[in-house]
Amino acid sequence: MVKDFISLADFSAEELLELLDLSDHLKQQQRQGIPHRLLEGKTLAMIFEKPSLRTRVTFQTGMYQLGGHSVLLETLLGERESVPDVARNLDRWVDGITARTFRHADVLGLAAHARVPVINALSDELHPCQILADAQALREHRGNDFSSLKLAFVGDGNNVFYSWINLAAKLPLNVTLVCPKGYEGDTRILEDAKSTAKGALRITSDIESGLKDADAVYTDVWASMGQEEEAAIREEAFRAYQVNARVMSLAKPDALFMHCLPAHRGSEVTDEVIDSPQSIVFDEAENRLHAQKAVLARLMGGPQAY
Ligand code: CP
Ligand code: NVA
Repeated sequence: MVKDFISLADFSAEELLELLDLSDHLKQQQRQGIPHRLLEGKTLAMIFEKPSLRTRVTFQTGMYQLGGHSVLLETLLGERESVPDVARNLDRWVDGITARTFRHADVLGLAAHARVPVINALSDELHPCQILADAQALREHRGNDFSSLKLAFVGDGNNVFYSWINLAAKLPLNVTLVCPKGYEGDTRILEDAKSTAKGALRITSDIESGLKDADAVYTDVWASMGQEEEAAIREEAFRAYQVNARVMSLAKPDALFMHCLPAHRGSEVTDEVIDSPQSIVFDEAENRLHAQKAVLARLMGGPQAY
């Protein structure tokens, strides 16, 4: 396994399944009150350039539950000190670094210059921790075999979607991006993923065909962190792509509703959908804790840690 957790594309199918199994195992242990102090005495530095509820709380709580400790740094990388220098200081003190950045290049820069593992806690390009937790939730609700499953991602072709297609390049999941023309994002990432994909990957602006036979309908905010100035224009462009009861009815009758959160209720999703029995958004959020604990234990604890 590679040193860092930057992109799901860096891992084999076997390694991803191993992380999901470990996440299930740690979840069970946590629920049964069985101690699993796999990172006793270890410290994680957490760099956050952007706001967070789930990621920050789950990394900090996860380190605590694993017997370790975390240090929070709310700072903009490269302003006071260069990224390589931040990495070369931190690795003298801590056993791992997690970073939520604007520029994806800064996560890569930390990983290149730090001798300790670096974990991507969301960049403008990818959100691998989210999709690992989402995959765990999907397995819990639909079983471990993804090969016949179709996930319709309705919304912006951005960091969360890119991590889904990275997963679909390794595990046999069918993913369709349903978005207004012009918001597909970097289609080169999709084309690259297609060349190695285990399942079918496609893009459409047609909601009806995009959602047909979908087992899960996923959405994300229309304007991501850093795109606040585009919020009004995006609200207009995406209005027809709101996941409401009518749109959910285009998918399979028992389709799951998924969202990475935070949700902008009334924009990309309505209350009736996110609060419906089909919604598993809080299961996804819960799994952020367990999935990240698996990543932390695997990267910072070594094979002897579990
Ligand atoms: N889904 C997610 O990453 O949430 P936060 O931005 O609150 O961390
Ligand atoms: N695409 C969103 C995800 C938030 C978890 C963003 O980058 O803001």
